[in-house]
Amino acid sequence: MKMEIINVSLKKEIESLSYPVFVGNNILTKANNLLKKYIENKKIIIIYDNFFSSKNVLDKTFMDFFKLIQENSLSVNLIPVSGGDQTKNMLQLTNIVEQALSYEIDRECVIIAFGGGVIGDIAGFVASVLLRGIQFINIPTTLLSQVDSSVGGKTGVNSKLGKNLIGSFHQPLAVIADINILKSLPEREFRAGFAEVIKYGLIKNKKFFNWLELELENIFNYESFQLEKVIAECCQIKAEIIQKDEKENGNRALLNLGHTFGHAIESFGNFDGKIIHGEAVAIGICMAFKFSNMSGFCSKADVERVLNIFKKSKLPTSLKEIKNFSINTPEMIEKFKYDKKTRNNKFTFILNNKIGESFIKNDVNVNHLIDFIDKEI
Ligand SMILES: NC(=O)c1ccc[n+]([C@@H]2O[C@H](COP(=O)([O-])OP(=O)(O)OC[C@H]3O[C@@H](n4cnc5c(N)ncnc54)[C@H](O)[C@@H]3O)[C@@H](O)[C@H]2O)c1
Ligand SMILES: [Zn+2]
Repeated sequence: MKMEIINVSLKKEIESLSYPVFVGNNILTKANNLLKKYIENKKIIIIYDNFFSSKNVLDKTFMDFFKLIQENSLSVNLIPVSGGDQTKNMLQLTNIVEQALSYEIDRECVIIAFGGGVIGDIAGFVASVLLRGIQFINIPTTLLSQVDSSVGGKTGVNSKLGKNLIGSFHQPLAVIADINILKSLPEREFRAGFAEVIKYGLIKNKKFFNWLELELENIFNYESFQLEKVIAECCQIKAEIIQKDEKENGNRALLNLGHTFGHAIESFGNFDGKIIHGEAVAIGICMAFKFSNMSGFCSKADVERVLNIFKKSKLPTSLKEIKNFSINTPEMIEKFKYDKKTRNNKFTFILNNKIGESFIKNDVNVNHLIDFIDKEI
């Protein structure tokens, strides 16, 4: 039988992987200058966390931002969304998409996400599917979203079967991380975001980890110098990783340290807020270090140091610390099947040789894993 093969060659370069991440204190007041070239003469839709509009009154910072955008664009429509992983789902996505379409948008329209990681992930996904893809700008308002989710272009929603299983890669046009907006963040959310900060040091930057240990108190006191450095450093480390591997065919998976365990834990909680993403990641990272040690890769002293920084940050280090949370080992193993790193039922974990040196471990021994989880839960 005659067969023709036609090769479709696409440009391999990453479409728009050059974009600014503005980090600073009070820089949202300059949003008109920072964003002018992206929003001028465009219809804008701001998808924002309804934390910023209690009882239909817009929060002052958000109101000022809204006015700046209004003065510098063609039109602005607002779509409020509740934060929290409970709302990061397909139902919410459909509602937002239908509402956005009702504003007679065109392909030049720009979405602005204004909120934490949940708003950024869902708004980015909305932008990637609306009219087959329009541009978006991210204004992260939680520590977690400023150091992690707003950069890198992973967008999406959760499924009942697991975390972030539906989504796309869609890079933003620009990101503004203003540390001033973190002042209203509940302490628990700030601490949860800090789990991802620790992650960056552990993956590939021991110097940064050492600095975090020293500056812990200043960071939790919201000292501007330290906080700005934290955010800039994390975004820099993340940018270096994703510039080489946008779609996670290789080393981008290192950013998943602690997330195989963490996502399994989160989806057991049904995203009901009993355990939030950063807390699940904190437990997940501690488990990854303990598992690394048990598998002969990492010293006990490093494991202790890791547990210690999480404890000092008042983050959980073990599932045993979470009250009324029951998981059994077979159920947890079942969850790993939905991890995006799993291939042909073979599990991949991010493990550590030491602090500052993570690696990708394919085909992890399941019996070994079962023994480990039995001890941990
Ligand atoms: N895309 C990625 O690369 C990536 C990376 C890491 C995490 N994530 C995702 O990010 C999500 C977690 O992000 P998050 O922790 O920002 O959650 P979130 O968006 O739910 O925000 C946490 C809580 O803080 C509130 N909030 C937001 N900004 C506030 C402010 N300035 N002041 C007071 N309250 C505020 C929200 O209403 C919410 O209740 C998870 O869904 C996770 O999967 C994505
Ligand atoms: Zn995360």
